[in-house]
Amino acid sequence: MGGMNVRHLISPMDLSVSEVDELLDLAGQIAADPKAFAHKCTGKKLATLFYEPSTRTRLSFEAAMLELGGSVLGFSSSDASSAAKGESVSDTARVVSCYADIIAMRHPKEGAATVAAARASIPVINAGDGGHHHPTQTLTDLLTIRQLKGRLSHLTVGLCGDLKFGRTVHSLLKAMCRYEDVRFFLVSPPELQVPSYIREDLLAGGFPFTEVERLEDAIGEMDVLYMTRVQRERFFNEEDYIRLRDSYILDAAKMKLAREDMIVLHPLPRVNEIAVEVDDDPRACYFQQVLFGKYIRMALILKLLEVV
Ligand code: NCD
Repeated sequence: MGGMNVRHLISPMDLSVSEVDELLDLAGQIAADPKAFAHKCTGKKLATLFYEPSTRTRLSFEAAMLELGGSVLGFSSSDASSAAKGESVSDTARVVSCYADIIAMRHPKEGAATVAAARASIPVINAGDGGHHHPTQTLTDLLTIRQLKGRLSHLTVGLCGDLKFGRTVHSLLKAMCRYEDVRFFLVSPPELQVPSYIREDLLAGGFPFTEVERLEDAIGEMDVLYMTRVQRERFFNEEDYIRLRDSYILDAAKMKLAREDMIVLHPLPRVNEIAVEVDDDPRACYFQQVLFGKYIRMALILKLLEVV
């Protein structure tokens, strides 16, 4: 990474497999000794431009920068920004380039981060653009899987829930396809299957995947189960949402069908799709995943700012 040109992170594919490895290694070092990194970003500022609500992602970026000794500024909804006055994303990106050293941005429209990156003179990190991509969640997921399973290859990964609108699913599928011998179970109701562009990519690349409707039919074969929330805000009508929201509820009974060493991940927020009783199961790793999310964002900020 680095060089004369400003590096951005818009899609998970902006990083090569070896760059991802480097980031995961660095995040592992940070996780082992966060204090050693406490002053790496002294004097640096992160701007969080959030045009769409978020708790975890925004706070994890802020926590990451604060833990590196830097500071943060920004807004957490579009009503609180000049977007409410009609300012374009590209103008905002230009303006903020004068105030900060790096931007993390979330926007409801697909492609918004690309527009911002074209105008910003500082690195732009896409923190989610509509139903499109969410690369830092994917880095979080990869780090969690690598730390907990010891590898990113030779895995059977089940993705369950809203595979149509879930951007974390789209980004994770893209990223996992780059590792050897990874098989997917895509578990969803027919209405929420992966978009056809993703299915075509999987077919064209010859990546083995099976689409199933019942979680019980596939859970026993999985090394990783990635649960997702039905993305209410991307539905066209509330009736469909209500009909589909409880399609999957992972509970203790379903966990009995899973392997002893399967791990359950979830990008959070959870709504109903994982029963609270599962939280005490040692295979439930979604809260650990949150912590890995902070470490990987620390690593990413360091790399994009060329501090290490
Ligand atoms: C995800 C997102 O924003 O896409 N959440 C997150 O990043 N923590 C998943 C979701 O909102 O369901």
